[in-house]
Amino acid sequence: MKNTVMKNKLALVLLLILPLNVLAKSAQIASPNGQIKLVVNDDDAQPSYQIAFNQQTIFAASQLGLEFKNAGSFSQGFHIKEVLSRNVDNQWQLPWGERLNVQDKHNEIAVTFVADGDSTNRYTVRFRVFDDGVGFRYEVPKQEGLADNVEITNELTQFALGNAEQVTAWWIPARGWNRYEYTYRTTSLAEIDRVHTPFTFKLKSGVHLSIHEAALVDYAAMTLDQRRPGLFKADLTPWSDGILVKIKTDFKTPWRTIQISKDAVGLLNSNLILNLNEPNKLGDVSWVEPGKYVGIWWGMHVGENTWGSGEKHGATTAEAKRYMDFAAKYGFSGVLVEGWNIGWDGEWFFNGDLFNFSKSFADFDIKAVTDYGKEKGVELIGHHETSGNVSNYREQMSDAYALYQKHGVTQVKTGYVADGGNIKRIDESGIVRKEWHDGQFMVAEYLHSVTEAAKHKISINTHEPVKATGLRRTYPNWISREGARGQEFNAWGNPPNPPEHTAILPFTRLLAGPMDFTPGIFDMGFNRLGDKSNRPQTTLAKQLALYVVLYSPIQMAADLPLNYVAKLDAFQFIIDVPTDWQESRAIAGEIGDFVVFARQERDSDDWYLGGLTDENTRDITVKLDFLAADKKYQAQIYRDGAKAEWKNNPYDMVIEQKNVTAENVLVLKLATSGGVAIRFKALN
Ligand code: NOJ
Ligand code: CA
Repeated sequence: MKNTVMKNKLALVLLLILPLNVLAKSAQIASPNGQIKLVVNDDDAQPSYQIAFNQQTIFAASQLGLEFKNAGSFSQGFHIKEVLSRNVDNQWQLPWGERLNVQDKHNEIAVTFVADGDSTNRYTVRFRVFDDGVGFRYEVPKQEGLADNVEITNELTQFALGNAEQVTAWWIPARGWNRYEYTYRTTSLAEIDRVHTPFTFKLKSGVHLSIHEAALVDYAAMTLDQRRPGLFKADLTPWSDGILVKIKTDFKTPWRTIQISKDAVGLLNSNLILNLNEPNKLGDVSWVEPGKYVGIWWGMHVGENTWGSGEKHGATTAEAKRYMDFAAKYGFSGVLVEGWNIGWDGEWFFNGDLFNFSKSFADFDIKAVTDYGKEKGVELIGHHETSGNVSNYREQMSDAYALYQKHGVTQVKTGYVADGGNIKRIDESGIVRKEWHDGQFMVAEYLHSVTEAAKHKISINTHEPVKATGLRRTYPNWISREGARGQEFNAWGNPPNPPEHTAILPFTRLLAGPMDFTPGIFDMGFNRLGDKSNRPQTTLAKQLALYVVLYSPIQMAADLPLNYVAKLDAFQFIIDVPTDWQESRAIAGEIGDFVVFARQERDSDDWYLGGLTDENTRDITVKLDFLAADKKYQAQIYRDGAKAEWKNNPYDMVIEQKNVTAENVLVLKLATSGGVAIRFKALN
């Protein structure tokens, strides 16, 4: 840091001597541990930044800038005017999370660029460099030459990777009809066109990176467009009229983030995204409660039940009570009920106009169900499917949350099933517009549902969401979301999720935040929809491992109760596993191959471990040095049996107990698409 300050002083001195337009300047900053170095400069009057990690160039000069409709653009013709620096070392706490304490240690420079010539345009780019990566964002103040309301037509931000041939990337396409719900592709950069973030890739040196964003508020989501081999550019998802962002000056963009680690596991232990979000704005959030739930849900996905009314209607009062009995007996806090309200009949995919969020089908009595739940100590978890008609939802939203609140509901799952680019909204003039799930309009719409729900002390679990960007820190009632291929694809996905899927998710989708994947399918042979290929391509032990591997403060036991009753010994792990953690540590993993997490239960001495593999068998040796050094533990192990393999023998599972300490080492033997789940119960 000393060097940087010195350089800045030097630059200011030079400034007095030399005319601005011939003075190329630069500013630099390093991470607290010195491994990441960032340089900002204005060579050729084009602001840019570069990043190096352990002396290796990660991004070569990568352009910065914004372009506006009806205003001068912030691209070429700008110089560094001022550089302010600051160091932060601060600890804060998550009300719920994968850990209690989060360290925010970073070095910052705020670089202000001013236009050459007569223009008085200026903007600042604020860079924060942490040991686990970099974040930067644009700050555009009110100024002459920019209207109070501006329209952004281009964000110039580049990520210029040097040697494109040597990169392996894990990615899903952006701007597709299926939103974020694609299987991940593992390819060189040559195969990539436009991708969603988190966009994760590995360099030949072994360095792992993931580009994403933090604090996406009042702006369009950033996807990445590969313009030339290795040269990625911010590609903001547009409004229906083609404008990217409509915003008032003065504004700040979301943070553009780059997680950097010497290995794959390092990405998993990063707090970068959360650290770049604002602290909790909701005050007391003791009403936001992590927990486990069951639901009238899988029955519809496998064709046993229907969302709509009729003989197979799932959401009846009687069925909801039956689920509540089951939940109460095995210690689940909630029962999700989908399909209770009017609107599901017919092709619900296209019924967005018909959903009524306060009126129930004749065979569902919300008062009777919630009264019954109160007796049993179980809550109804609400559901609102919009089928992408957000204006219909918006009109009813406040009443719908009030109804739930009146009946003691504290969690609502929302749904926005509609093709990408096909969200229906009615604009101010009554005209129907079609928007993307990740355009600026929807970014605001999702957040509106969360802040509106907060007024009713309700937490939101969004399906078909915009990607997570760490806003759970600011709005802790945004408790989970989907935003990737979840378990449901194993019912009807055609093809279902491949064995490697959950060995990729932690390094991609989950870097953004919690996911409501809905683990725990115990019956691998349901095939009731007639398509034999649709089933979880995992062993039973791997289904258990998912509870520890795929972080979410709310976790579903997704299967039908009868399938749990049939395997109560395995079910015990789901009964025991918590969803709120004191500490989490990824301890092994390679993207798409395997991953192992250890997590300590909040306010407890117990630890849990989850490990899983792709289609290959694997022995993974793990040190138990995460356990407290002065304690003894009983390890309750749920592992693949010697003959287990996902295709023909998924149920072969061994449950065994062993006393262990932090000194011990365990060899985890994983079958094809297998897993292991362990509870380390502290012994007194
Ligand atoms: C898609 C969601 O992901 C799923 O969980 C839900 O059951 C259906 N939409 C119906 O809302
Ligand atoms: Ca979905």
